Amino acid sequence: LAKVEVELASIPEGKNVIIKWRGKPVFIRHRTPDEIEEARQVDWKSLRDPQSDEERVKKPEWLVMLGVCTHLGCVPIGESGDYGGWFCPCHGSHYDISGRARKGPAPLNLEVPVHDFNDAEGKLII
Ligand code: FES
Repeated sequence: LAKVEVELASIPEGKNVIIKWRGKPVFIRHRTPDEIEEARQVDWKSLRDPQSDEERVKKPEWLVMLGVCTHLGCVPIGESGDYGGWFCPCHGSHYDISGRARKGPAPLNLEVPVHDFNDAEGKLII
């Protein structure tokens, strides 16, 4: 299956980009140290889809996930919502800065696709 390579140097800290992968949007966020801290402070065991931030990222500064709301598949909007992450305008789901479902009808966290880094070339491979 087709792989996508993304040049990470082109994504500044604190920015999101959206790429297309297998016909779906993939969100890539270059997280700031404050955002990483925030994602890790959450009492994740109490969340509806309990997942630690560490389980969701391979490198703390790079959050990579499918841009498909786990409720009914709309594309959430970045840098919005009550938890500093994404907001799905279709029925009001809020995701945090780790992409975890925090409020609204979404039953699950945004899905993290299998991905890897090529450090020598500074690339993300999805
Ligand atoms: Fe996102 Fe319903 S599809 S909240």
